[in-house]
Amino acid sequence: MTVPALAAHGVVVRFGGLTAVDGVDLEIEDRTLVDIIGPNGAGKTTFFSALSGLVTPAAGRLVVGGADLTRKPAHVFARAGVARTFQTPRVFADMTVAESVRFGLEFAGHRRRAERASLADVPAILDFLGLADFASVPAGAVTPARQRLLEIGMALATRPRVLLLDEVAAGLTEAEVRGMARLVRRCRDELALSVVWIEHAVAVLLDAVERVLVLHQGKTLAEGAPAVVARDPEVIEAYLGQGAGEARS
Ligand SMILES: Nc1ncnc2c1ncn2[C@@H]1O[C@H](COP(=O)(O)OP(=O)(O)OP(=O)(O)O)[C@@H](O)[C@H]1O
Ligand SMILES: [Mg+2]
Repeated sequence: MTVPALAAHGVVVRFGGLTAVDGVDLEIEDRTLVDIIGPNGAGKTTFFSALSGLVTPAAGRLVVGGADLTRKPAHVFARAGVARTFQTPRVFADMTVAESVRFGLEFAGHRRRAERASLADVPAILDFLGLADFASVPAGAVTPARQRLLEIGMALATRPRVLLLDEVAAGLTEAEVRGMARLVRRCRDELALSVVWIEHAVAVLLDAVERVLVLHQGKTLAEGAPAVVARDPEVIEAYLGQGAGEARS
């Protein structure tokens, strides 16, 4: 039996009286692309925070590469190979693009074992992302789309095995979204990563992933192949109904 890259069992996250994540399960094999969709406030980002150790679940279990990391702090998740981006890009405005990526690589030096397919140095990462021409530009001065790529680069520099992407296609043009979907597939195919991608139901994305997890009010509403999930009446009512035009465009 193969050990999943990441497994979450019955994860519950509460903020005071609010249960933001309410018993969610997710198992991700190596080299798999999973999309998480759901209406605003469904608990998607909070679930990521649990998967990366930034919030401690009130209940549930988190296992990374077979190691139980439940209730461990974020740096333990990072060292085990979980990397994430943030819904609001967090780049260091004054650092150059290359320095930002180097920062991640230095962190990776602390990891016991980098994944075999990892990109080895800053130029390799910038090349992979198509950012080589911007190496010496301050991160704050590149376009928002390139800041998104840079954030992915900083995550890749930590040599992850699981990459968590929180709405990295938000605000991008259609062509840029297609480019992002291609890049994410290359992360899976060329870097052997498992990728969990939170994004609204963009058709191009649903075409790109193996599996979709639909969250609604903190709970799993549906999970399965994109074509099946997109036809699920409950999903259509809770979510796709509002964005159906976008989903089909
Ligand atoms: N740090 C926090 N403290 C208190 N409540 C929070 C916190 N973070 C999130 N919440 C609440 O938890 C619920 C889930 O929020 P979350 O950001 O995870 O949703 P989401 O699915 O990512 O939504 P969106 O599509 O808008 O990004 C919301 O009701 C939100 O207001
Ligand atoms: Mg969110």
